[in-house]
This record gives sequence, structure tokens and C-alpha cells, in this order.
Amino acid sequence: MRVRDLRVVRGKRDVLHGLTFEIARGEVVGLLGPSGCGKTTLMRALVGVQVVAGGEVTVLGEPAGSAGLRRRVGYATQAPALYADLSVAENLRYFASVLGAPRGDAARVMDEVGLGRHRDQVAATLSGGQLNRANLAVALLGEPQVLVLDEPTVGLDPVLREELWELFRELAGRGVTLIVSSHVMDEAGRTDRLLLMREGEILADGTPGALRASTGAADLEDAFLRLITGEAA
Ligand SMILES: Nc1ncnc2c1ncn2[C@@H]1O[C@H](COP(=O)(O)OP(=O)(O)OP(=O)(O)O)[C@@H](O)[C@H]1O
Ligand SMILES: [Mg+2]
Repeated sequence: MRVRDLRVVRGKRDVLHGLTFEIARGEVVGLLGPSGCGKTTLMRALVGVQVVAGGEVTVLGEPAGSAGLRRRVGYATQAPALYADLSVAENLRYFASVLGAPRGDAARVMDEVGLGRHRDQVAATLSGGQLNRANLAVALLGEPQVLVLDEPTVGLDPVLREELWELFRELAGRGVTLIVSSHVMDEAGRTDRLLLMREGEILADGTPGALRASTGAADLEDAFLRLITGEAA
């Protein structure tokens, strides 16, 4: 995946000011930064649903949003996008058919996110964390090679988060590239690489260990605070 000088304007505001980076196949990249810094906007550009003002985004060798990428890129939006009056299984079967994913995929992804027991429950009655997992399950349909996950673990307890991170690791082991936004620092430490954003720019890019070392901070939380407030050593 390659992003070159990406600029995005939303409303009248410059939201991304020329981002440039590359992500290798099988890499697990965490996207962090304060609310409103442009994480979701960047993810939208990666999946090709964001109008861009300039620059280039190439995913699996094709321009972001190309028809050929539709089944190869999975996207879990920050706000769950499910039909409230359909059950979990019905939602997943519907999205599977839209994506041309194999039959049986709906059951597989429900298991992967631990929602098998809630398969017949309508989405409107799911808890927040369950709804988030159902939304994540949609992104896993069809075995995409790139996963763009916008805060997939919000509202989950530590045990569920642990399980999902094991799933992410397993996927990466199979060569899937993952871009995951988060506000949770212990999660950030599980990535191969962190992109820290502030106000539409990339402030730091490196492994969790390198970011700790370069800021002289004991933990990531402290490293981020130092970088965001410009007090890095
Ligand atoms: N349709 C829009 N019109 C105008 N401004 C917008 C629009 N959508 C987003 N923005 C602005 O773009 C900026 C980046 O928003 P974005 O959703 O990418 O942030 P984020 O980093 O994902 O934040 P959060 O952590 O709260 O999810 C924000 O300042 C937001 O207010
Ligand atoms: Mg967001």
C-alpha cells in the first residue's frame, strides 16, 4: 500500500495536509491520534470512499477504490453500518452476497468475532460491543487481503480485545495487511508499527519500541503525550 502526498478537504477544512507513507504486506499498523486528527478520513481514502483533493493512494497495486479491489479490501466503519431490523446472520448473509463471498462465510466470520450465540438476534437489540463485533465481521467476509478497521475494539472488555488481537495476528500471519485505529495504548503496543497523527499530519512513524525510545518515555501513553504536546526528548 502506498500513499503519496495525500490531501483531503472536507467541508471547507483542510483535513489531511499531504500524507506520505508505505505499508508492507502482512504488516499490522496502528493509527493513533487525538479525536478529529483525520484517522477516519485517512481510512476512507485507503478504501477509496473519500473524495481527495490531491495525491495518490495505491492499494495492492491498484488505485484505491478500484472495482478490482472491492473483494480484496475489508473496511469496518467507526459507526456500525448494519440493518437494525435484520439479525446478525441475515446481515452477514446479505453483505456476503453483495460482496460475492462464498456461502458459509457468514457462519465463519460470526465465529471469528465470537457472535455465534447471537446469530439470530436482530442488530437493534445487540449491546454496543456486540454491534461493533458484528460490524467487524462484515469486514472479514470474503477473506480480504487488506483490512481497514476503524476502532474495532471500542466498547470491548479486555478478554474480547485479547481475542480480537489474536485474530488480527493470525490474519497478519497469513499475509493480510491490517490498519487499525485505536485510542487504547496497550493495544497500540501490539502492532508492528504505529502512525501517530496530529491535525492531519503524521507526527511519528515507527515501532512501538522505537517510539518509546525516541521520546525517552517509559510507556506508550507517555510517549504519545510527549509527542502530541511537542515535548519529546
Ligand atoms: N463532512 C465533513 N465536513 C466538514 N468537516 C468534516 C467532515 N467530516 C469530517 N470533518 C472534519 O475532519 C476532521 C477529521 O475527522 P476524522 O473523522 O477523520 O477524525 P478522527 O481522527 O477519525 O477522529 P475520532 O478519533 O474522533 O474518530 C475533523 O475535524 C472533522 O470535524
Ligand atoms: Mg474516527
